This record gives sequence, C-alpha cells and structure tokens, in this order.
Amino acid sequence: MVLVKTIEELQKHLKELCKKGSVGLVPTMGALHSGHLSLVERAVSENPTVVVSVFVNPTQFNDPDDLKRYPRTLEADLKLLEPTGCTLVFAPEPSEIYPEPDTRKFDFGHFEQVMEGKHRPGHFNGVAQVVSKLFEIVKPNKAYFGQKDFQQLAIINQMVKMLKMPVEVVACPIIREKSGLAMSSRNALLTPEERKNAVVIYETLNKARNLVGAKSVCDLEKWVVANINKNTFLDVEYFEVVDFESLQHVCKWDDEGRKIGCIAVFCGKVRLIDNIVLN
Ligand code: PAJ
Repeated sequence: MVLVKTIEELQKHLKELCKKGSVGLVPTMGALHSGHLSLVERAVSENPTVVVSVFVNPTQFNDPDDLKRYPRTLEADLKLLEPTGCTLVFAPEPSEIYPEPDTRKFDFGHFEQVMEGKHRPGHFNGVAQVVSKLFEIVKPNKAYFGQKDFQQLAIINQMVKMLKMPVEVVACPIIREKSGLAMSSRNALLTPEERKNAVVIYETLNKARNLVGAKSVCDLEKWVVANINKNTFLDVEYFEVVDFESLQHVCKWDDEGRKIGCIAVFCGKVRLIDNIVLN
C-alpha cells in the first residue's frame, strides 16, 4: 500500500498498475470505520488495483463549523487500510483538488430538492464536484458507495448516467454497530451518553417497518418523528418515505416498487442520517 498526495504521483503509479486489470475506487472523507472498510474489502475482492481516497471535501459542507469539526485521522486510517490489501491511498490537500474554485453547477432536479438536498443546500453539488474530479483523476472501472448515504448514491448514479461516465457504480449495504446504530465518522463526535441514546433511531426505523400497512404513510411518518423526539437527546430534522428509484414522496402503500424511509436526526450538535427499506 502506497500513500500518495498529488495527482501526478497517483497517475504515475496507475499507469503501471492498470496494466494488471480493473481499477476500483473507494471515495471517503477519512475517519474510517468498518462501514468504509466493507467498501474497500468489496473493491479489493473485485479489482487487482484499488484506490482509496481520503479527502474532507470543503465544497460539500454547507456549515463551516461542521467542516471545522469533521474528524481528521489520517495516521489511524492508514493503519486500518494496510491489512485490507488496497493498493493506493490518495490523500490530497484541498489545493490539489481545487487549484481554483470549482464553479460547476450540476442539475439533479428532484433528486437534489428533497431530504438531504433540501436541508443542506449545495451539499450534493459539492459531492458531484469532488466525485466527478476523482473519477477523472483515477479513471476507475468501478466505484464503491454505501447505501447509508442513500440519496448520495442516487445522485452519483444520476451523474454517471447524465454525463455518460464510463464507470460502474457499486452499491454496498449499511454496516451497523452491534447496537444497530449505523456506523458513521460523526459517531466519534458523540458523547457516550448521546451514543447510547442514538440507538433509538434504528430501533424506531425497525418498528416502523413492522407498522407498514397498519398505519397510513402519513401516520407512520408522524409516528416515527414523535417516537424519536420523545427522547430528549434526539431531534428529528426529517423522516420521509420515498420511492427507492425516483425518490418521489410515497403517498400510499402499494406493490409498485420498493419504498425506503430516510431520516436525519440531531443528537446534540451531531447530525446523523440513516434509512431502512420498508417493503
Ligand atoms: P464518507 O462519509 O467518508 O463515506 C464514504 C463512503 O462510505 C460513502 O460511500 C458512504 O456511503 C460509505 N459509508 C459510510 N458509512 C457507512 C456504513 N455504515 N455502511 C456502509 N457504507 C458506509 O460519503 C462521503 O464520505 C463523501 O460524500 C464522498 C462520497 C467521499 C465525497 O466527498
């Protein structure tokens, strides 16, 4: 495993390595945990060369405090990556990715107007900026993303389709702690007490799945919000039931396509997201 910091170094390595076959890319913002590592392991099992990028992308943070607080743990990340068998770790400085400001504006229509897009203006534009740059720099055959960030995955799929990018997007399942809490780099910012209470999020999503049909979509949405907000540590920003493919809000239960419940919750100052397939 080799750590590279510049595009030039990275591409020098890749020029030789791509002769061995496909290149897999796992984009991350570091502070790695088992969720990230599951993506890396999948990539290693499917490609002779795997690049893991570790880059806290400033353009996707709509809140400057969030960017400042975001954990940065490159040394520890490298220790976790070493045994996975990944080939290259690309950890650039912001000036390497953005030698000048990126003024590109992507139009994802409805996909960026709901849920995360609605509550974090500009977030997905920043994600598309950095991921499109990473695709251009690495030219991967396959790129790996987690279903934990369900809307992000939908946006990336949309971007690849719209721009006809020659890359296969691979969706990987959510990895959870034993308690059910979805693994996230932000969990490290929770106090032990907040962490204990954050498990109510997944507990409630699971109960919601069992209430599909028994409650209307609208009642279920209200019930989830109320049940989580009962916990004084938690404050729901949104919970929405949407169609798995189109992200259109679902009005009633029917057999037409899968439905997914997506949630964002503040636990103290830390914003957590999660989702559950409901049918
Ligand atoms: P980051 O939050 O570091 O996540 C990197 C990848 O790991 C994403 O595809 C995310 O969905 C996946 N991931 C995170 N937690 C997971 C979990 N518990 N189970 C499965 N996969 C999980 O997402 C980003 O970074 C950035 O937006 C990025 C795509 C790197 C662009 O900057």
